[in-house]
Amino acid sequence: GGSVPQRIEEKRRAALLGGGQSRIDAQHRRGKLTARERILLLLDPDSFDEYDMFVEHRCSDFGMDSSKNKYPGDSVVTGRGRINGRLAYVFSQDFTVFGGSLSGAHAQKICKVMDQAAMVGAPVIGLNDSGGARIQEGVESLAGYADIFLRNVLCSGLVPQISLIMGPCAGGAVYSPALTDFTFMVKDTSYLFITGPDVVKSVTNEDVTQEQLGGAKTHTAVSGVAHRAFENDIDALLNLREFFNYLPLSNRDPAPVCECHDPSDRLVPELDTIVPMESTKAYDMLDIIRSIVDEREFFEIMPSYARNIVVGFARMNGRTVGIVGNQPKVASGCLDINSSVKGARFVRFCDAFNIPLITFVDVPGFLPGTAQEYGGIIRHGAKLLFAFAEATVPKITVITRKAYGGAYDVMSSKHLRGDANYAWPTAEVAVMGAKGAVQIIFRGKETDAEAEYVDKFANPFPAAMRGFVDDIIQPSTTRMRICHDLDVLASKSQANPWKKHANIPL
Ligand code: COA
Repeated sequence: GGSVPQRIEEKRRAALLGGGQSRIDAQHRRGKLTARERILLLLDPDSFDEYDMFVEHRCSDFGMDSSKNKYPGDSVVTGRGRINGRLAYVFSQDFTVFGGSLSGAHAQKICKVMDQAAMVGAPVIGLNDSGGARIQEGVESLAGYADIFLRNVLCSGLVPQISLIMGPCAGGAVYSPALTDFTFMVKDTSYLFITGPDVVKSVTNEDVTQEQLGGAKTHTAVSGVAHRAFENDIDALLNLREFFNYLPLSNRDPAPVCECHDPSDRLVPELDTIVPMESTKAYDMLDIIRSIVDEREFFEIMPSYARNIVVGFARMNGRTVGIVGNQPKVASGCLDINSSVKGARFVRFCDAFNIPLITFVDVPGFLPGTAQEYGGIIRHGAKLLFAFAEATVPKITVITRKAYGGAYDVMSSKHLRGDANYAWPTAEVAVMGAKGAVQIIFRGKETDAEAEYVDKFANPFPAAMRGFVDDIIQPSTTRMRICHDLDVLASKSQANPWKKHANIPL
């Protein structure tokens, strides 16, 4: 009943209430915000343009066609808005409507914003909070997932895609976040798994809780499925806003340039003494990174996973850069399976979206052992090598200390088209460390061979004399040099040979 304007108003009001006040209260009691509250926090005030508020599910089985089972907008809120003035498309699953479960209509709404994002060239942000496939709809909802997956794949490398997991995400639903560029989680209230604890118990007889199986800690520290975890909904959404500022809108858009109050020619005197005299002593690569980038701000990606490599975003003279660094503090900074995969994926994201790469090298080689060899370190290490070699963005490399063996080649070396490769005076570019080398070539018989080896190889000259590093620089000047190079390289243009796509070893 009612006039059309009245009915429009009623539907809008109903849509704003989602599954109703009692379910909203239940959501709040769990420490979670509603789908709409989340969008309001994520986007600039008054910038949200909502789509499809009137879309309803079309299922008629199991009494679903009764009016009390219809919710305008169904179980997802979609639209576009601005983050610090820059366009983003969002979908936010509404747990208060059928547990945020994915109906055909729900999927269609998500696909609509993804299609437009791809066309316009703007990122897609998904706020996930869903009980999975809408059970009443059967194959209709499975089809909906596949429609989303296909778009995730087609958008990959075209526009940045970010998933924030803010509740359950299980079964087939996990593959959309897995296909996006970054997956963030909220501690304690979110989880991701293929099959839940009950199925696990019945198949493998393991006793695990949801949290152990797929909580934020598991995925940021053990599985490497998620890239960051945040304390609660508000913390996560504010961090997402900050993260967004680093990203270009698409692969056709230059990364944003922020106003920079940190002088590009700032000297960093503490770097002249940061590398310990003893080459086996550890130091924190994060200290070097923070002291070089603008305002010491570094948005680390996967800080708790494969900590022997550090990756993340920062700015140099206001421009977004991707940073990769070996971490001597963890396993001497050696490369292993997990750090290679972590590094490779990050490098490929940066290359796809025209973000210059700065690589800090202190690597004693690849981690030896059966666990690594049986796990396929050859195949996985090749990913990092492949990613650096393939990348055509500006590439700047600083060897702070060790650059040993094949790992020297891998870490954005000159040979893989590094644009500016520097060595600090403490750099040692060699096939291996002096002890191991002397063991092998002299079987330990030549007593003074080690000193000779150190003199010959444990310094930057052999590489510098061959032009494999462009210069040996005073560490305190590193920021200045990199900023200057980035200015020059801003107009870099390099292409790989035409192909359908490369075949990175997976
Ligand atoms: N399809 C349809 N409705 C669903 C649903 C789904 N997949 N998942 C949840 N719901 C509904 C519930 O029936 C409930 O409805 P109600 O409010 O009218 O009672 C509401 O969403 C909330 O779910 P509830 O189970 O009460 O919430 P919870 O926080 O206790 O548990 C889940 C959340 C996700 C763990 C649980 O709902 C679940 O296991 N869902 C099914 C998951 C699944 O197997 N999905 C299919 C495979 S992809």
